[in-house]
Order: sequence, then C-alpha cells, then structure tokens
Amino acid sequence: MTGPFPDGFLWGAATAAHQVEGGNVNNDHWELEHAEHSPFAEPSGDACDSWHRWPEDLDLVAGAGLNTYRFSLEWSRIEPAEGEFSRANLDHYRRILDGCRDRGLTPIVTLVHFTMPRWLLHDGGWTGARTGDRIARFTEYVAPALRDAGYIATINEPNLMAAQPVMGAMARRGEPIKGLPRPDQGVADALLELHRRSTEVLRGAGSPPAGMTLVGREHLAEDGGEERMREERAAFEDQFFTAAADDDWLGLQVYTCARFGPDGLVAPAPELQTLAHGMERRPEALGAAVRRAAEVLPDLPLLVTENGIATADDEDRIRFTDEALRSLAGAIADGADVRGYVHWSLLDNFEWMLGYRPTFGLVSVDRQTFARTPKPSLAWLGGVARRNGRTAC
Ligand code: FCB
Repeated sequence: MTGPFPDGFLWGAATAAHQVEGGNVNNDHWELEHAEHSPFAEPSGDACDSWHRWPEDLDLVAGAGLNTYRFSLEWSRIEPAEGEFSRANLDHYRRILDGCRDRGLTPIVTLVHFTMPRWLLHDGGWTGARTGDRIARFTEYVAPALRDAGYIATINEPNLMAAQPVMGAMARRGEPIKGLPRPDQGVADALLELHRRSTEVLRGAGSPPAGMTLVGREHLAEDGGEERMREERAAFEDQFFTAAADDDWLGLQVYTCARFGPDGLVAPAPELQTLAHGMERRPEALGAAVRRAAEVLPDLPLLVTENGIATADDEDRIRFTDEALRSLAGAIADGADVRGYVHWSLLDNFEWMLGYRPTFGLVSVDRQTFARTPKPSLAWLGGVARRNGRTAC
C-alpha cells in the first residue's frame, strides 16, 4: 500500500437489503425469483438473515477495525402497500444507524438498492408517471430517521439499472453479453429524474450529504475503438456525471474495465475472467475510474462505495484489493478528492441472478445456520484501515 490516505478517510464494508436481510417477500425481486422461467439461479430465501443478525454484522465490521458500514433500506418493508407506512420497520433501520454510531461506525445509507415494492412493479415501475411523486413521498417519510447517516445515496447504480433491460433484450435474441451495454436512454432519464426528486426532498429536510452511486469502470480502447469508446462512455458515464454535478458527493463502484473495439464492447479473454459475471480481473480499474471522475468533476467529493472480487481464494481477494488500493492511492496523490473506500461485500450474500454462488464476502455465511466466519481478508482490510493505508511494518 502507498498511503497514508487523507485524515478522516472512511474504511468500510457494504451490504444491500435484499442481498442479506432475507424474507423480502414483498418486493419485485422476490416475485421475479419465483416466476415461471425465472432468470434467477435460485431464490433469495432467508439470505444471510441480517434482518435479525445485523448487530453481529456491525460487530464484525467494527471489531475488524473498519470505521464505516454501508447498508440499504428496503422500500417494500417501509411502505408495504402504497401510501401505507410501517413505523416499526423504519425504526429497525434507525436502530441500525444507532448501532453504527454506538460502535464508532459512520453509516452510509442507500435508499434504493435495485429493489422496489411489488405494488410499484405493478403500477409503473421505475419509469412510471407517478414514480417521481412516490419516491419523493418515500424519501420524505424516511429522511427524519436518517439524520445520523454520514452520507445518503438515493439510487444505487442507475447506469447499470438502465443497461439491464438492454441486456435482457440481448439475451432474448441470443446475442452474447460482453459486458455492460449502453443504457436504455428512457430508463436512464427516468432514474435520473427519480434521483433529482429524492435529492430535492433530502435537501429540504436538511439531511446529511446526498448523492448517488454509479458503476465506475476503466474504459479502454483497442485498435480503432477510440471513437466507439468515447460514445459508449458518454452514455454510460458522462451523462450521469453531469447529473451528479450539483450533488453533495458521488459514489463509485468499480469492479473491472470495459474494452472497446470499432464494433463496440470486446469480451475479456477467458483467462482474465473472474468467477462472477465473466468480468475481467483488473484491480487497477479502481484508480483509473476514480481519476476520470475526478477529472470531469474536480469539485465533487468522491467515495468508493463498492469494490471487490468474487473468488473462493481469499488470498487472491487480498492481492486484488491491495492492488486496487494502490491504484486508488495513486489517484488521490494526483489530486482526486476521495473520502472513503467501502469494500463489496461484508458477507457472502445473494448475488442477484447468480444466486449464492459468487462469493464477494470478507465473511462467509453458513447457508443452514447463518453462522458468520470471518475470512483472513477481513482482518487484513481492518489492518489497512487502522494504519490508514500505511504499509505494515
Ligand atoms: C454491484 C451491486 C451490488 C453487488 C455487486 C457485485 O453492481 O451494486 O449489489 O451485486 O455489484
């Protein structure tokens, strides 16, 4: 490592409600997981039972020496039917925030991490005409409970969410998926409008700094691919950067790079692919993605809100993260205003359509007993945090 990182740097681990809580029977994903011909490898079921075991999760984060925990709210629990709110479930999340502060952890809270209540799925979804008013109302309801957050993210990865329908259509046509394609512009516009509505409410409520989290990636042009790379980057990244320019901060979630040739995305060579998603193993993508964001948005504080690797080889997780952090330290040394690094993920959890197979966690979870077993990488990252990135002597 080439730290130290800036004073007060946040070091943490992340989860997302649907991936760890379990029993989220009232959201769109649960419904899709159980649909006939579901594209999901398996249903989320009890996940990691973090709905009950969150104090244990926070103990693991704080005990390792990390100072930050990122988690998300589950809209379908807080507003189980349209306009009908559950104070008890909002209190659950308020207790997690208190639990963070009691343990010296800065909470980073995401309002929407991919899932929506079923009633919204069946009445417009993300692009529905009334969804702006609905996310505004949801934000208004939760804002008072989030006063103790360090940062609030409205929507997780709108650039990925807008690329998903395109991937779905490609899959139906039998086209190969070589990486994240250009987002559907209608969905991108809709999600950015939802972000704007939610942010407006947070500002009005005097909430902690508000922003969104984006998939950040290193864009690479192969021979003749320069122009195509710039076009794709404009659609996947630049329009979202422009929308983030007036926010209080921006979260970047970086796993890999995207390579472009004259005809668009080029799939990574098989020997470079990691266990999950067929992504290329490219730790230095972190520094590259952060540098580009800092170049485009020099005045906006950045946080790395996700970075990690799905591997069964924990030594490789440590190597990957060490290399990623080196590249991040380089970007910071060159002037990028980065306030924190949050690893994905705290726990081996429900990785969406891929089910429980990819293991991104610093901690493994027994699928029968939910017992948590820290991997060496948790103590390793905690050590990095305690030294604020300085090399161990
Ligand atoms: C990101 C998601 C997160 C997790 C990682 C692997 O795109 O935000 O929930 O699935 O990928």
